[in-house]
Parts: sequence; C-alpha cells; structure tokens
Amino acid sequence: METRIFVIETKNTHYVLGVDKNGRVNHIHWGGKADADDYEVTENWEQNSNHSELDYTNFEYTVFGGTMYRNCAFKCEYFDKCRDSVFAFKDAREAEGELDIILTDEPYNIDLVLSYRYSKDTDIITRYVTVKNNSEHTLKIEKFMSAELTLPDSAPYEVKNPNGAWGSEFLTETTLLKNGTLTFESRKGTAGHTNSPYAIMSKNADEEHGDVFFAALGYGGNFKVEIQRDFVGITRAILGISDFDFSYLLKSGESLTSPKVYMGYTYGFEKMSNMMNDFAVKNILPKSFADKPLPVLYNSWEATEFNVNAQQQLKLAKIAKEIGCELFVMDDGWFGRRYNDWGGLGDWVVNEEKFPNGIDELIDGVNELGMNFGLWFEPEMVQDDSDLFKAHPDWIYHYPNREAMKLRHQLVLNLTKPEVKEYVFDCMDKMLEKHNIRYIKWDMNRPFSEIGTENLENGQELWLRHTQAVYEIADRLKEKYPYLQLEACSSGGGRAEYGAMEHFDMVWTSDNTDPVDRLDIQHGFSLLYPIKCMRAWVTDTNLTRRPVTLDFRFNVSMQGSLSIGSNLLNFSQEDIEKSKHYVELYKSFREVIQFGDFYRLRNFDEDGYYATQYVSKDKSKSVLFIDSNANSFFNKQFRSIHLKGLDPNVKYKLTDGERTVVKSGAYFMNKEYAIRLDRPLMSKIIILDRK
Ligand code: GLA
Repeated sequence: METRIFVIETKNTHYVLGVDKNGRVNHIHWGGKADADDYEVTENWEQNSNHSELDYTNFEYTVFGGTMYRNCAFKCEYFDKCRDSVFAFKDAREAEGELDIILTDEPYNIDLVLSYRYSKDTDIITRYVTVKNNSEHTLKIEKFMSAELTLPDSAPYEVKNPNGAWGSEFLTETTLLKNGTLTFESRKGTAGHTNSPYAIMSKNADEEHGDVFFAALGYGGNFKVEIQRDFVGITRAILGISDFDFSYLLKSGESLTSPKVYMGYTYGFEKMSNMMNDFAVKNILPKSFADKPLPVLYNSWEATEFNVNAQQQLKLAKIAKEIGCELFVMDDGWFGRRYNDWGGLGDWVVNEEKFPNGIDELIDGVNELGMNFGLWFEPEMVQDDSDLFKAHPDWIYHYPNREAMKLRHQLVLNLTKPEVKEYVFDCMDKMLEKHNIRYIKWDMNRPFSEIGTENLENGQELWLRHTQAVYEIADRLKEKYPYLQLEACSSGGGRAEYGAMEHFDMVWTSDNTDPVDRLDIQHGFSLLYPIKCMRAWVTDTNLTRRPVTLDFRFNVSMQGSLSIGSNLLNFSQEDIEKSKHYVELYKSFREVIQFGDFYRLRNFDEDGYYATQYVSKDKSKSVLFIDSNANSFFNKQFRSIHLKGLDPNVKYKLTDGERTVVKSGAYFMNKEYAIRLDRPLMSKIIILDRK
C-alpha cells in the first residue's frame, strides 16, 4: 500500500498520523509545528522472540489482536468467536477542520472511523470513534475507547487527577508515572466524586512553564482513563467508556459513536485552563446559554431542606430579591410524600399539603418580584414510599434473587426501559408545561447497584444506555423549552464533568460549601473546567463549625457563578446590606469572571493563601481575589504578587477597598502589588480598571 501522511494543524500545534505500507495507521507526532513535509512514515524492524515489532509501533488507535499486548482502545468478539482484530486503512475524508480516517477489518466487514475536528483558532482537537457493522452478523464490542494519545519523548510524565470524595471533590494529586498503568475510573454509574474523566500529563510544568498534554472525556457514566508507560519509555493515554462490566451488541447495519475527547497540547497549566475554558464556552456547553452570563441565584436547600411551603419560600424570595438575586430555586421537598429523605422520589407532582393553593402561588409571587423560578428534581430515582414504586416495582434495576440495596433510602430507575425514560420526561414536561419554570436542578444522589435489566438482551449495555437516556431527556427538555437552564448535580460534584456540560448549562461543584475547603475544591475544578459552570453558594454551614465572615464567604463564591444558599430569614440588616453590596459588585464584573482569562496566582498548599485573578478579554478590567488561611505568622503578613494578563502599556486604577493607586499594567506585572494579610481568614477583592 502507498504510504500517506495526515497533518492536523491547529493554532500552535501539529498532530500527525500516517499510513504505513502495511496499511497500519500510526501516530507520528503531537506537539509544536515543523514543516509539514518533514514528517515521514518510519519503518520498524526491531523485534525478537519476546517482543514483536508491534511493541515498538505507535498505533493511532490500538486494537486487541495478534502480538499486541499493551492496553488497547478497542476489543471485540466477531460472530465466529474470533477475538482478534486487524484494522487496516481503507479511506480518508478530509474537509476544512475535519479528518475522518476509515479503518476496516475486511474479512468481518467492520469499520472503525477515527474522527478529528479542529481549527486554527485553538489547539484543542475534538476526537471520537464510530464503529460500523456492515456485516450480516452481530458484533460484540467489549472495549470501545474514544481516543488514544501517544506522547512524545520517552522521559516520564507527571499525571494530575483528583482523588476526591463526596464533599471533597477535585482535591488534585500529582503522580510521576515511570512504570505500569495509572487508571482513573468510575464504576458507579456516574462519573462520581473521586477521579475525573481526564488526563493531564506534563513535564517540569507549573502555571507558566513546561509541556502539558491534556485530554478530557465528554462522558459522565462509567469512564476509564488509562495512562501507561511501556518498557520502551513511551507514555500513552486511552480515554473512554469503562470496559468494566461493559459490552455492546452491535447489530447488522448499526453503528455506535463514542463520546468525545477534547485534547490539547500547550505550555503551562494556566494556558491549558484558559484554552479549555474558552473552548468549552464556544464549543461544548449547550448553545442557548453558553455565551450568556449566568444569573445570580438563590437556592433554598440549606435554609429550609424538606420543610417547604409557599409563604416561607416567598419570604426568602423577597429578601433574595432585595439583595439582588435574579433566580429563585426551590430545592428538594416540594413533591409527592417528601417530608424527609425516606420517601417521595418518583412522584413529581406538587405536594398539596405543603402547597394547598398549588405551586403557582409561589411561582407567580417570585415572578412578581422580578425573578425567574427554578425547581429541583431527582429524575433517575424512586423510593418505596411513592406511588410510582407501588405501581411499578419492576422499574428499578434489580435481580430477582438479590435484595435491592438502598442508599439515602432510594433506588435507581431503569432508564434503559423506554417506558421509564418516557415517564421521567413526561413528569418534567408536565411541570414545565403547566408552570413558569425556567431552571431545573437535576440531581442524582446515589450510585447504581444490583444492575439487573431483564429488558435488555445484553445487560452490560445498561451503563451506557442509562447515561444516554439522561442526556436525551435533558436535550428534549431544552429543545421544547429553549428558555430552560439546566444544572447538573450529583450529591455535589458527582456530575461535574464535560459529559454533563455538553447537555447542562452548569454544574453543582460540591455539597461542601465551607468557604475555606471550597477554595481547594474550586482550585481543582478550575484546572480543566469552565469557571462559569461552577455554581458557588454563599451559605451558613460554617457559622458554628469554623466561623468565617460573610465577606470571606462572598469572596470565595464570587470566584465562580455567584449563588446564595444561606437562610436569609436569619440575616441581620447589616448582613442584607453587605450581601446587596457584594451581589451588585459581582454583577459589575460578572462577565470578567465568567468569560475572562483566569490566573491561579497563589494557593494554600504552596503559599498559605489564595490569590486568583480574572482579566477581561479586552484587558480593560481585572479582578483579584485574596483569601488567607488560618495562620497569622508575623513574618508572613506582608506579601507581594506579580499580577498577570494586563496591558503593560496602559495605566490602571487599582482599588482594594483601602486605597486607590494609578500605575501602569507593566508596573503591576513586573514590580508588584503589595498586600498585608495580618489576620487569619482575611479576604480582599481588588479591582483594576483601565484609565
Ligand atoms: C443533594 C444535592 C444538594 C441538595 C440535596 C437535596 O445532596 O447535592 O444540593 O439538592 O441533594 O436533597
């Protein structure tokens, strides 16, 4: 076969693959640009009785078969029980910003299409794979990953991923991968709170320096990220749907497309975060609200929990309005027999005892105040004490001989049954049709168990089919109600990833709203996820446990999409005035936070205090947040920081609440901004305006 080279050119990088004379599609390069005609398809002769030539070959998408023993991206069983794949180049489709490489396993008539979407405006390449069954037989897919990445240079990489938990999401760890495979995954049904579906691999990197290769998966079901350094020293990452308890029967004539992977190469973590942030706003988030600033919302969960009624919610709404909130969200407790967390889930009808005059009394009241109204649902769940469970006990995932284990007293609905999916859509649709609901917080509070699905020919498809059902319902709701904003929540940050962000406008990052903990959580989130998607509430949780001022709490929440979750009925007039001030201030620079460039200047771990800076794209405005930790060492009270991202050649007026100075951008970036942090848990907001 004639050799061929494909060069994908992004803003600053080349991604190159080639077809060798045996028809294999090999990875050639990912990184900085060279002359396109420098790239060549190299021959590989290295082999001995223990290492075939394949051990030294960089496949673009490794399939299981022959003498290939490393982690593979694809594995299947053909109709004749053959589990050995050989995919060779068949064809390529090229268009502006698009490349599709078609591979085929000829005797079985199965194609794999490797898709690449890219542009010269960014260094992010979107990848996905489609498997097409052109044969007359059913194909059993056993592993089907979205992309394989081969990194240049045989020195080991440092790998970042969170090792979090409920209430401790995004606490990021770094591991030097010299040997073996590092796996990040979820087997819980959702992405979960522990690992994130991404790979960040770097060399001698910090915020500003060092090679950083990264890839994020757009899928929040069971996922798997495998990063392996082989005996040759090559590091490869494979990202996709987890192959744990997974297989898929692809019938004759059918095709299946993998979730997307967004990957990029850059220099320093700061550029990585900003590149992904901008890309997500332009290309990943649902179009209806992607480029619009998100409203300041009030959520009543921490104030009233399950004990809701129209009068008390309206009282909260009045104060929420007074302090400047634009959206009022009533959380859990409004439906069915929902008096605590023992019952009600599944019955998405208004509880008439709590709302004897109907829910419109509240919605109209909120609308009259000039705010939009939002509501909480947990659509994938059911509880024993519900009409739904009584009518359809078989609508949950279950096995006849196993007790269905409950978590938070609830069970997971089998969304792979079309009638269950339809029921869920209908319940939400009815509420939206009848009432002026403009926002839904979609929650998901427990992982799966006893995953029996008598309706499916192959039960191992449930993980994928459930996730697809969630996305499908969300998309249908958005299509029917274009004004509807969706928030993805899963006991806090269990769905804070790009799969959710392709269908939901924002995510709830963590149930931990302690502002001091939250700084670490937000720091981790900001690495690869867009700032505007990060809902951040000011709450009262820390009033007794670890007292922190209202100023500090606002300071932290203003670093994302500002929201309020405090019990406003307990607010003093001074608290209300203060809140008003901060909400107004936030609105004055909200676009800088939600769409600007973002810099992590300091953090608790390394520096003992946080400093994060946001700069508008036109560099006319910048906001800097400072938060000190609980220490107040005498020698660490005077700090100075170099600011970033300003225009060096213009003057800025800096206001930090105590003083106003006018100096050049160059001064603030090269000399310093000096600050005194002489009390524990101090916070400051510093604003710079171009003169
Ligand atoms: C989960 C969410 C919370 C809240 C409660 C309601 O824990 O993460 O924000 O909505 O459920 O039960």
